[in-house]
Amino acid sequence: MSSIKLLVAILFIMLLSVGVAQAGGDVARGQELAADCVDCHGEDGKGDEENPSIAGLDAKEHLAMLEAYKSGERTDEDEIMLMFTEELSTQDMTDLAAYYATLPCDG
Ligand code: HEC
Repeated sequence: MSSIKLLVAILFIMLLSVGVAQAGGDVARGQELAADCVDCHGEDGKGDEENPSIAGLDAKEHLAMLEAYKSGERTDEDEIMLMFTEELSTQDMTDLAAYYATLPCDG
């Protein structure tokens, strides 16, 4: 019983912290969201032969790219990025862009 209450309390706190939407990007949250990107773009964001590097992209440019995929303005052959941006809010994409901007793009 008390563990259920604790769980509810934890969930509530998590909800609250999500509710406090950040004006800028939240790097820590972006890093969590990036769990969905690492399969293709790699842990370091540098990609491989098939997937472009997204490490060290300017946060504003990165956000613009993600929004362009989401809106369908930019398409790729397999619509992979459309699929992955479909579910993301502007805040999600802002946080992702903030996180990837912290990764080194070379070396
Ligand atoms: C299933 C593999 C896959 C996943 C997962 C994936 N991507 Fe991509 N991504 C690609 C491919 C392939 C391209 C190149 C598409 C094209 O030609 O436009 C791409 C392109 C991009 C680009 C454009 C890069 C450039 O320089 O033009 C950005 C930005 C990007 N992805 C960010 C992300 C983010 C952020 C996530 C996680 C939410 C993510 N991707 C998840 C495969 C993936």
